[in-house]
Order: sequence, then C-alpha cells, then structure tokens
Amino acid sequence: MAQGFILILILFSSILSPQVHGCSKTESASLLSFVVTLSSPSLNWTSNNCCYWEGITCNLDGLVTHLRLPSKGLKNHGDSFSLSFLKNLTHLAHLNLSHNSLYGSVDQIGSLFLEVIDLSNNLLSGELPHVLPSTSIKVVDLSHNHFTGPISSSFFRQSRNLTSFRVSNNAFSGSLPSSICRRSSSMISLLDFSFNEFNGSLSSGFGQCSKLEVFRAGHNNLSGMIPEDFYNATTLEEIALPLCSLYGVISDRVANLTNLSILNLYFNQLSGVLPFHFGKLSKLKLLLLHFNSLEGTVPPSLMNCTSLTELNLGFNRLEGDISTLNFSKLGQLSKLDLANNHFTGPFPMSLYSCKSLKGIRLSRNDLDGQIQPQILSLKSLSFLSLANIRLTNITKAMNILKHSKRLTFLSLGFSFLDEESPADFGMANFSGFQNLRFLDMANCGLTGQIPVWLSNLKKLGYLNLNFNMITGSIPSWLGTLPSLFHLQLYSNLIMGQFPEELCRLPMLTLNQTIAKFDDDGYLTFPLYDGETGNQLNSLRYLPRAIDLGRNNLSGIIPNEIGQLQLLRDLYLTSNDFSGNIPGQISHLKNLEILDLSMNRLSGEIPGSLASLNFLSYFNVSYNNLEGPIPKSTQLQSLSATAFEGNLELIVK
Ligand SMILES: *[C@@H]1O[C@H](CO)[C@@H](O)[C@H](O)[C@H]1NC(C)=O
Ligand SMILES: *[C@@H]1O[C@H](CO)[C@@H](O)[C@H](O)[C@H]1NC(C)=O
Ligand SMILES: *[C@@H]1O[C@H](CO)[C@@H](O)[C@H](O)[C@H]1NC(C)=O
Ligand SMILES: *[C@@H]1O[C@H](CO)[C@@H](O)[C@H](O)[C@H]1NC(C)=O
Ligand SMILES: *[C@@H]1O[C@H](CO)[C@@H](O)[C@H](O)[C@H]1NC(C)=O
Ligand SMILES: *[C@@H]1O[C@H](CO)[C@@H](O)[C@H](O)[C@H]1NC(C)=O
Ligand SMILES: *[C@@H]1O[C@H](CO)[C@@H](O)[C@H](O)[C@H]1NC(C)=O
Ligand SMILES: *[C@@H]1O[C@H](CO)[C@@H](O)[C@H](O)[C@H]1NC(C)=O
Ligand SMILES: *[C@@H]1O[C@H](CO)[C@@H](O)[C@H](O)[C@H]1NC(C)=O
Ligand SMILES: *[C@@H]1O[C@H](CO)[C@@H](O)[C@H](O)[C@H]1NC(C)=O
Ligand SMILES: *[C@@H]1O[C@H](CO)[C@@H](O)[C@H](O)[C@H]1NC(C)=O
Ligand SMILES: *[C@@H]1O[C@H](CO)[C@@H](O)[C@H](O)[C@H]1NC(C)=O
Repeated sequence: MAQGFILILILFSSILSPQVHGCSKTESASLLSFVVTLSSPSLNWTSNNCCYWEGITCNLDGLVTHLRLPSKGLKNHGDSFSLSFLKNLTHLAHLNLSHNSLYGSVDQIGSLFLEVIDLSNNLLSGELPHVLPSTSIKVVDLSHNHFTGPISSSFFRQSRNLTSFRVSNNAFSGSLPSSICRRSSSMISLLDFSFNEFNGSLSSGFGQCSKLEVFRAGHNNLSGMIPEDFYNATTLEEIALPLCSLYGVISDRVANLTNLSILNLYFNQLSGVLPFHFGKLSKLKLLLLHFNSLEGTVPPSLMNCTSLTELNLGFNRLEGDISTLNFSKLGQLSKLDLANNHFTGPFPMSLYSCKSLKGIRLSRNDLDGQIQPQILSLKSLSFLSLANIRLTNITKAMNILKHSKRLTFLSLGFSFLDEESPADFGMANFSGFQNLRFLDMANCGLTGQIPVWLSNLKKLGYLNLNFNMITGSIPSWLGTLPSLFHLQLYSNLIMGQFPEELCRLPMLTLNQTIAKFDDDGYLTFPLYDGETGNQLNSLRYLPRAIDLGRNNLSGIIPNEIGQLQLLRDLYLTSNDFSGNIPGQISHLKNLEILDLSMNRLSGEIPGSLASLNFLSYFNVSYNNLEGPIPKSTQLQSLSATAFEGNLELIVK
C-alpha cells in the first residue's frame, strides 16, 4: 500500500515538472523497480529528483553514485533477491544494504561499475554466482548471512582491484579460494573467511598476496599445515586461524613478518617448538597459541616483543624454568596465561615490573615458591590464578594479597599442599579484598573455623573451601553476605546445624532488594569446566549452589530451605542430618541437583518433590526413608542407586 502510494506520487510529480535536473528517468525508474521488490517500511523517496532521495548520492552530472540504505528494515518479497536493477545505474560505485532483512538467493553480486558492495548482516542464502561482475570492485562484504557452497576459483577472475573481501559468519564450504591471490594482481589487504564450514587443507597461494595485511579464517574445518608460502606475505599484520585443525610447526620464518601485530592460532593441533626468533616481531601485540601441543621452552627472544599486551600459551606441553625469563620489558602486557603446561621454577620476579598486568594465570604447572609483596605494584591486577602449583606460606600470601585493591578473582586451590594453615591468617579485623568476587582456597590445608574476615567481603559471590580441615559450625553471618551465590564447604570437619540464616542468602532468594550482579561479571580469562570442556566467560554463569557435603552436620534440614528459590544445586550428602525431608524443598523450582544421600533422614519422600521439573540429579540413598517414590517422570526415571540403602523405601 505505502509503496504504491509513493510510486503514484512520483510519477505524478514527474509529469508536472518535466525538466528534472540531475536524476534521469532511467535511473529513477531503476531505483523504483528495486523498491517495488521490497515489502518493508517505505523510504522517503518522494522528491521528483532522485538525487534527493534518502540514501542516494549523485555526482555533479546528476548520476547516482551511492546507494546507502543500511539498517532501514528493508525486506524483500519472495524467495530471491535481485540486484538486476543495478544494470542501468551506470555510475553507481557504492552499494550498502547491510543490516537489513534481505533474504533468499542473490542473482548477481554487484554490477559492472561497483567499487564497494556491502550486503552484510542480512538473511541471504544459496550459493554465490560464478563470477564477480565488476572489474572495478574494491570492497566486498557478505558477512553474517546464510550463504552456502564453495566460492568458485573463477569468482575473482576479473576483479583485479579487490582490496577487502569479507565472508565471515556464513556456511560456505569447500576449500578456501586461494585463487584470490593468484588471479588478481593482488591488491588484497584484508581477507576474512572466519566462522564458516570451509574444509580441506589451508592451501598455498595466499603468500602471493603481496599487500595482504589481515588474514582471518578461524572457526572452520581447515586442516593441514600452515603453508610455507604464507610466510612470504611479509606485509601481514594479523593472522587469525583459531579453532581449526591445523597441525605441524610454526615456522621460524614467522620472524620475517615484521609487521605482525596479531598471531592467533589457539585451539589447533600445532606441535613442535616455538620459533626461536620471535623477538624480531617488535609490533606483536597478541600472541594466542593456547590449546595446542607446543613443546620445548619459551624462547628468551619472546621477551623482546615489547608491544605484547596479551600472551597466552596455556594448555600446551611447554616446559622450562620460567623464572629465567625476563618479563621486565613487557610494559604493555595486560594478560598472561601460561596455565596447564610443565613450567618449573618460582613465580618470576620480573613479572612484578609488568605494571599493566590485569590477569595472570599460572595454574597447573610445576612451579614453586612464594608470593612476594612486590605483587602489590601490579595496581591493575584483577585476576590471579595460581591453583595447582606448589606454593608455600599461604598466610604470607593472603596477608599480601588482601591489599591488592582491584583483585576480583583469586584461585589458590590445591597449591599449598604441605602446610597446615589457620583459616583466619591473623586477619580478624581488616578491610582488605574489597573487590573480591571469586575465592578458591580448596585443598589448602586450612584449619580452624570459617574465618570471620570473610564477613567483610561484600562482593564475594563464589567461595570454595572444599577439602580442608575446617572445624566449628557454619556461622550465621554467612547468610548475610550480600553477593554470595556459590558456597562450597565439601569435605571438612564442620559440625552443628544447618543455620536457618543461610536460607536467607540474598542472591539465592527471591528477595532481590540487594541481590543483583552489579555488572556482567566478565572474567579476564574464561574458566574451563574440567568435565564438559565448556568455557565460562562470566561469573554469572556459575551455578547458584550450596555444597555442605561430607561434614559432621546434624539436626534437621530447616523448613526455611524453601526460601532459596534461586538455588540450582544442593548437596548435603554424607552428614548426619535427621528428621524428614522438608516438603518446602519443592519450592526450589530451579533445582537441578539434590543430593541428600548418606544421612539419617527418615519418613517419606515428600510427594511435592514430583513437581521439580528441572531435577536432573537426585540422590537419597543410604538414609532411613520409607514409603513410595513420588510419581513423576523425573524421579521414576532415576536408577535404583538413587534410592538404595533405605530399607523401608518401596522401590518398584
Ligand atoms: C534499463 O535500460 C534499458 C535500455 O538501456 C531498458 O530497456 C530497461 O527497461 C531499463 N531498465 C530499467 C529497470 O529501467
Ligand atoms: C523527505 O526528504 C525530503 C528531502 O528530499 C525532506 O525535505 C523531507 O523533510 C523528508 N521527509 C521526512 C518525513 O523525513
Ligand atoms: C555500510 O554501512 C554501515 C552502517 O553505516 C557501515 O558500518 C559500513 O561500514 C558500511 N559499509 C561499507 C563497506 O562502507
Ligand atoms: C584499478 O585501480 C587503478 C588504480 O587505482 C585504476 O587506475 C584502474 O582504473 C582500476 N581498474 C579498474 C578496472 O577499475
Ligand atoms: C568438521 O569436520 C568434522 C569431521 O572432520 C565433522 O564432524 C564436522 O561436522 C565438520 N563441521 C562442519 C561445520 O562442517
Ligand atoms: C569437504 O566437505 C565436503 C562436504 O561438505 C566433502 O565432500 C569433502 O570431501 C571435504 N573435503 C575435505 C578435504 O575434507
Ligand atoms: C617466497 O618468496 C621467494 C622470493 O620471493 C620465492 O623464491 C619463494 O619461492 C617463495 N616461497 C614460496 C613457498 O612461495
Ligand atoms: C610495515 O608497516 C609500515 C608502516 O605501516 C610500512 O611502511 C612498511 O612497508 C611495512 N612493512 C612491510 C614489510 O610490509
Ligand atoms: C627472512 O627472509 C630472508 C630473505 O627474505 C631470508 O634470508 C631469511 O632466512 C628469512 N628469515 C627467516 C627467519 O626465515
Ligand atoms: C633483545 O633485544 C636486545 C636489543 O634490542 C638484543 O641485544 C638482545 O640480543 C635480544 N635478546 C634476544 C634473546 O633476542
Ligand atoms: C610465612 O611468612 C611469614 C612472613 O614472611 C613468616 O613470618 C613466617 O615464618 C612464614 N611461615 C612459614 C611457615 O614459613
Ligand atoms: C530482604 O532483604 C533485606 C536485606 O537483607 C531484609 O532487610 C528484608 O527483611 C528481606 N525481606 C524479606 C521479605 O525477607
């Protein structure tokens, strides 16, 4: 309706004023033939001179040179999208229809005269035509669509001036079109093939792109080695090939790519040693090689890459004494991840001079030594993971780290294996750790009671004290910690009752007066779930959980437990709880895990538990329960082991 009206209006006004300056009738008719294929909000194309239409630019002769309609809610009729209207726009150089809802297959990509075509962020699909029609084309952006099939090697046959070609986030398959460098006279400076289904080996040919600066092809099914000729493209500034299946070594010749600023090859199967002459790459900012099978030592010359901001060598097989590396020239270094390797030696003192450091992860190595007070000179430090290494003197470590003002994430679990340490570290009255949100001190040999200083940590959301020797009872103040949503006290010597106060934890109840995450909880480094391999980028995605398992807790499970309505996991296994299972547990509608096994609970399993729809793990074995198992697909589908060891329970 709306388009029809505009069309009539325009034809009418052109009759009234026959001398249209600028815009020719052929050109406006071509443009209108495009508009009638759309079924979307109408454009302001009412003037009788099409040069004044929204999104149109003409040259001095009144010929249309630009058609720019990004983010206009454009949507086409039918199953295909035609660009045939471009034929008569003989001076159109720039077409930008990005961020619309154009969909279906496309009959042609551009026209003879185009220099820039941007169809990104639409819903276009089907295979690309065999050839790009324009000989003047410089920029092609087809990213974020649903295109499929291979990109024919003839596609670039006549596009000798192409500089930028982006097709990321589609479903293209087949091999990467390295012909793009062979066929054109290689003006190409940017290629982005990432997030597709390209397969086969990374073919040679790209090295012939003598002006190539950015090469991205990560998140594909590419395999094979990085071809030697790649290192001939000495103009390269960025190589991004993460999440493929590349194998083989990173050649020493990489050192010849002296303008390289980003080398991103994480999550491949690369092996061998690191290139010895890395130090020549004085512009290198990001070196991301995590999740490969690299071995040997870190070449000392890497410490000459003074522009480095992020160095990630985690999850490889690297070795050597890292205290011999001199990090002191890396003044820009903001993130360092060396986790899950075989590094030895003490925490490198020279790291303390990298004043820009925000995140350090050295966990799971064979390191030793102590935290030194100089760590406080790292004023931006917010993420520190030293889990699973062999540190000593946790008391000293905590008394230093409490002064680290920006620290939000501290993981020391399984690191102080041979010490018996007081849990309070002599920190009764203190105002440290004011930004701490994540504290993992599992398996740190802690003795004494749950320390009172924790009650000062208003931002603490995650607390893990599993596998220590903590005694005493669960303090009632724990239930007042305003940010706490994940509490693990598994395998300690804690006695007494389940305190009612714990049932008021603001982050776990529907009382949301204060219980909000005050930001996105973004983590400097993602956490990896050891079991599923899933990666977690924000604290927000950690489950809301309480684990009091394997302690000496006794008494009843309080009815108030029903207030913890946001709780996902509840483990009370291997304690001495008695009395009935409170029916109020059925109020915990988000519960996925409920483990009450190995206690002295009696009575029947409340029928209301049948309403817990998300329950995926349920265990009440080895109690004194009786009566029938409530009828629900969830509970009935569990294996008998979930109920065994209850003599009076009627298991059908
Ligand atoms: C394009 O121009 C040709 C003549 O050169 C004409 O036959 C055709 O109708 C025009 N197409 C449009 C959409 O105006
Ligand atoms: C439509 O565009 C013309 C210029 O061609 C302008 O004067 C007019 O205000 C615009 N109308 C609206 C509703 O934006
Ligand atoms: C197309 O328009 C969008 C939105 O204005 C812009 O971000 C993009 O850079 C343009 N594309 C080209 C190739 O200029
Ligand atoms: C390619 O670019 C060069 C230099 O900018 C220019 O002279 C030439 O006309 C262009 N070729 C085409 C086919 O547009
Ligand atoms: C990638 O290859 C693997 C096997 O080599 C296959 O299972 C997987 O589906 C492929 N992925 C895509 C996106 O084609
Ligand atoms: C690439 O994938 C296609 C199917 O999508 C398959 O036919 C072809 O064999 C694969 N090529 C390689 C080298 O794996
Ligand atoms: C790299 O370039 C050199 C000299 O330009 C050439 O001799 C060599 O063959 C090229 N290597 C590859 C693998 O293309
Ligand atoms: C490196 O970059 C500089 C500055 O952008 C440039 O002048 C130089 O030609 C580049 N070197 C190579 C080998 O491309
Ligand atoms: C760098 O290239 C030069 C010639 O271009 C070559 O002689 C040298 O061996 C190369 N260096 C490395 C480390 O590959
Ligand atoms: C680091 O650079 C300095 C001077 O720039 C040089 O003397 C030294 O040999 C380099 N070290 C390594 C290990 O390459
Ligand atoms: C731990 O460090 C503190 C402070 O440096 C020191 O007083 C204490 O003796 C150390 N403890 C052990 C067990 O080495
Ligand atoms: C909600 O929490 C606030 C702060 O802890 C408390 O004062 C208030 O009584 C609670 N409201 C309910 C209904 O529990």
